[in-house]
Amino acid sequence: MSDHVELSNLTKTYPTPGGPAVIVKNFNLRIRRGEFVCLIGHSGCGKSTVLSMLAGLNEISEGGIVLAGRELTGPGPDRGVVFQSPSLLPWLTAYENVMLGVDQVFFTASAAERRQIAEYYLTVVGLGDAMDKRPAALSQGMRQRVGIARAFALSPKMLLLDEPFGMLDSLTRMELQQVLVDLWNRNHLTALMVTHDVDEALFLADRIVMMTNGPEAFVGDILHVPFPRPRDRRVLLEDPEYYRLREELIEFLEVRAYTLKNQSPPPSPPRPDGAASREAAPRSAVPMAAPCPTTPSVLSAS
Ligand SMILES: Nc1ncnc2c1ncn2[C@@H]1O[C@H](COP(=O)(O)OP(=O)(O)OP(=O)(O)O)[C@@H](O)[C@H]1O
Ligand SMILES: [Mg+2]
Repeated sequence: MSDHVELSNLTKTYPTPGGPAVIVKNFNLRIRRGEFVCLIGHSGCGKSTVLSMLAGLNEISEGGIVLAGRELTGPGPDRGVVFQSPSLLPWLTAYENVMLGVDQVFFTASAAERRQIAEYYLTVVGLGDAMDKRPAALSQGMRQRVGIARAFALSPKMLLLDEPFGMLDSLTRMELQQVLVDLWNRNHLTALMVTHDVDEALFLADRIVMMTNGPEAFVGDILHVPFPRPRDRRVLLEDPEYYRLREELIEFLEVRAYTLKNQSPPPSPPRPDGAASREAAPRSAVPMAAPCPTTPSVLSAS
């Protein structure tokens, strides 16, 4: 796989009343085509700042980003973005919300082909029967499904997700993780996802990028996730390697996120023989697979 995205010495400085605040400094990362990368770090370290620069929604102070061979200069439909809350237009149905972007991106396709694209992705995320509902008539999980369908329907070069499941209950979260990974796998997309959840990262990612604390946060370490795909959550939870990697992530967050910045880590809470990390892992709630309709021809042709 070739490098698809390259973030080089990415730096973000915000003006503040106390003077310029350097939030992220010399953040370097290469992501290969088709790779799924998760970004973890403490709250406020600058994860969303990095993602929003990649989305073109936040000006880059220094350094640069190259996506598919082109330097990024602003937002564009080549990047599908999913935030914690999907910000749907309340007066439009789920279908119309997805069609908004589809009409713009596939303006050369026929009306029937565009309709097929929107219906396909809404069906894949499990909203086949709810396309004509407005956001007020959808649950939070259903709204987020619309947000995921909307992002995928644009056939972007890259998918950017900022804690997309952060506001969902754990069962819905696991269902949507499965929907996301199935869609990603089917579309061979490149994805960068911010998450606070180490189990989510271990289930979804090929690599997990660990950010140090701020200010001037950078990539502190990168963990390769060796589990073969498709991944079965129950199998992962039986694997001792899963707990070793999980412990490595937690150790980074509890200790190295600080020490790499010459900060003192807070005293860690008592953990009985590492049992807490095991207990926190979900053991029930087997994710449901989404239905798998045929890919619209306009997408397979592109
Ligand atoms: N427009 C802004 N002006 C000044 N400071 C900002 C601005 N936006 C973000 N910051 C600061 O940048 C830092 C990083 O913010 P960011 O939202 O990227 O963190 P995060 O890692 O995504 O946190 P969380 O996990 O809580 O979402 C924070 O200290 C925040 O206060
Ligand atoms: Mg954030």
